Amino acid sequence: MAIDNGKQVVYCVTGASRGIGLEYVKQLLERGHQVVAAARNPAKSNGLKTFADKHGSAVTFVTLDVADPASIKAAAASVSKAFPDGIDILINNAGINGNIVRSSEQDENEFKEVLLTNTLGPFMVTKTFLPLLRKGNKKQVVNISSTLGSIGIAAKPLKGDDNPDNLAAISKMQVAYKASKAALNMTTVSLAVDLQEEGITLIAMCPGWVDTDMGSSATDELGIGKPPLDPPSSVAAQLKVIDGLTPEKSGTYFNHEGDVLPF
Ligand SMILES: NC(=O)c1ccc[n+]([C@@H]2O[C@H](COP(=O)([O-])OP(=O)(O)OC[C@H]3O[C@@H](n4cnc5c(N)ncnc54)[C@H](OP(=O)(O)O)[C@@H]3O)[C@@H](O)[C@H]2O)c1
Repeated sequence: MAIDNGKQVVYCVTGASRGIGLEYVKQLLERGHQVVAAARNPAKSNGLKTFADKHGSAVTFVTLDVADPASIKAAAASVSKAFPDGIDILINNAGINGNIVRSSEQDENEFKEVLLTNTLGPFMVTKTFLPLLRKGNKKQVVNISSTLGSIGIAAKPLKGDDNPDNLAAISKMQVAYKASKAALNMTTVSLAVDLQEEGITLIAMCPGWVDTDMGSSATDELGIGKPPLDPPSSVAAQLKVIDGLTPEKSGTYFNHEGDVLPF
């Protein structure tokens, strides 16, 4: 059991059914933490089922659709019941990428859906879970963003500079996803400034290019290779960054290696 200031550390991970979220739950449980695994349908996730067998009461399953305010409210109520002393670290991981299309051909309705899930979703979850975070010891929120949300990097081709590595292939695509993560970054900074006096720390984190359903979805279409990172390596690296968080780092946009990214 992992104790901090005499209290067990409680993490809440959204989008825990598969991919990076599932791996977060796995590694946090292996480290002896208490984990709230929040997913749209936890019972449908075979990965989560194995943790229930292995880790028993260390893992709490909660139904949470980040795009649905009623679902978020119900999830916060059930977490509050299970953890009356609050939670320590909220990892807003749930996300969608939408179809890989040229930015000029992006469908408006899909754009709205991506913004709702990737930007408003983490905002609504954070806002609704604030009373729980205020009671916790660590008071940290990690918003899983993407390097694709960096406006500075996205604008490079306009200045005759190449985008780094695989981002070049996607430079003309995915306006909805990129805008949603850029807006998530601004949401992170805005809340970090607002909540600084309460000692609440928020960061944006790019997990790297990771071999998950999302990470591998564009590879065939764009003729780019396989994602270089597997979920265990990405999450282990991200946890090192999270372990080193202090209030002074609030509002920072990190990658999984702890480098600071340009907004
Ligand atoms: N993989 C990469 O290379 C990469 C790179 C940069 C950033 N990211 C970010 O990392 C995060 C995790 O991505 P991933 O690669 O693990 O993707 P993934 O394998 O596609 O998994 C996405 C997760 O988000 C959940 N989700 C989607 N919409 C949701 C909603 N409305 N409410 C609750 N959960 C929802 C999914 O749940 P269901 O099973 O219910 O669909 C699933 O658990 C995302 O925020 C993504 O943008 C990924």
